[in-house]
Amino acid sequence: MNNGFHLRTMQPADREAISRLIFHSTNQYYESIGREPIFQGEELDPAIMFDVYQTLDPNQGLVAVDNKTDGIIGLCFVHPRETHFSLGIMNVHPDHFGRGVARTLLSRIIEMAMTENKPVRLVSSCLNLDSYSLYTRAGFIPFCTFQDMFLEVPENGLTFDPPNDLIVRPGRLDDVEGMVAIEREVAGITRRNDYDYFLRNDKGFWHVSVVESNGQLDGFLISCGSQASNMLGPGVARTEDQAIALIYAELNQHAGHTPVFLVPVNCGELVQQLYKWGARNCEMHVAQSYGLAQQPAGIIMPTFLPESG
Ligand SMILES: CC(C)(COP(=O)(O)OP(=O)(O)OC[C@H]1O[C@@H](n2cnc3c(N)ncnc32)[C@H](O)[C@@H]1OP(=O)(O)O)[C@@H](O)C(=O)NCCC(=O)NCCS
Repeated sequence: MNNGFHLRTMQPADREAISRLIFHSTNQYYESIGREPIFQGEELDPAIMFDVYQTLDPNQGLVAVDNKTDGIIGLCFVHPRETHFSLGIMNVHPDHFGRGVARTLLSRIIEMAMTENKPVRLVSSCLNLDSYSLYTRAGFIPFCTFQDMFLEVPENGLTFDPPNDLIVRPGRLDDVEGMVAIEREVAGITRRNDYDYFLRNDKGFWHVSVVESNGQLDGFLISCGSQASNMLGPGVARTEDQAIALIYAELNQHAGHTPVFLVPVNCGELVQQLYKWGARNCEMHVAQSYGLAQQPAGIIMPTFLPESG
């Protein structure tokens, strides 16, 4: 019990309340800084996040409940993984900003991770000083900066040639171990069940590309084409050439759409290639970690469904 609210784990019956809270809290924030709302469709579109996480991390998320009204006033998704905890979208109802709801949710997640001696990772927006400050004030340290880019893919796919002759192919179920190995090498983290989930593609809106040489995976890139999120990522690659080849392949999975993707700002060759293709910037994000985070030994490309700091 804390400042008139308490925390509990998310339950299946919370689905609609959580979706509405994500929709209104996020949109109101972006409108308050003069930007387009993030969610342009229906209030229940963000329920896809709840559905994906109930499959990947059943009942792991946390909600803050007001003691008087019993309504949900805050939420945060939590993704415990082999190597780390990842923290998902954090939302507080605008009527309850500044009550310490987010700080309390965050402290509980840090405690959970510390019990298992694991770092906590997230990706936060550089445009959103409230959330940037929430995390850095709690002890998180930024370790990688990204520019969010978008590219309109024509109805018939990209009109220019592939950027190089690297071998990119769709991922297969037997790629899981290769994906584990390459993400461990490049990012210092693994999430075996997630790769398996994307490759199985039960929802029908995931796609996985892998780049390989000499029978070994050099990288992978996943993409999501759901109603609430059309993004490329998560992905990793050893080199910028491999990342470019993966992005080309995954963009072509989204013909007639305009997916968003995050690339590290210090990958000059990659960024210049994307500009040449016509990509534009729409936001900036930083990966932050509470506890040790390996400096990327290659290219990391995070996303927001699932959150993948
Ligand atoms: C960002 C958000 C989650 C914060 O929720 P909140 O419950 O109002 O935050 P809290 O009351 O717990 O306060 C957050 C902390 O950040 C600190 N903080 C906020 N802005 C700050 C700034 N500019 N500099 C330093 N510290 C700052 C606050 O002082 C507070 O720390 P303290 O209690 O130790 O003083 C909320 O504004 C929100 O839901 N926004 C819309 C959705 C969103 O942007 N989500 C985050 C991205 S996924």
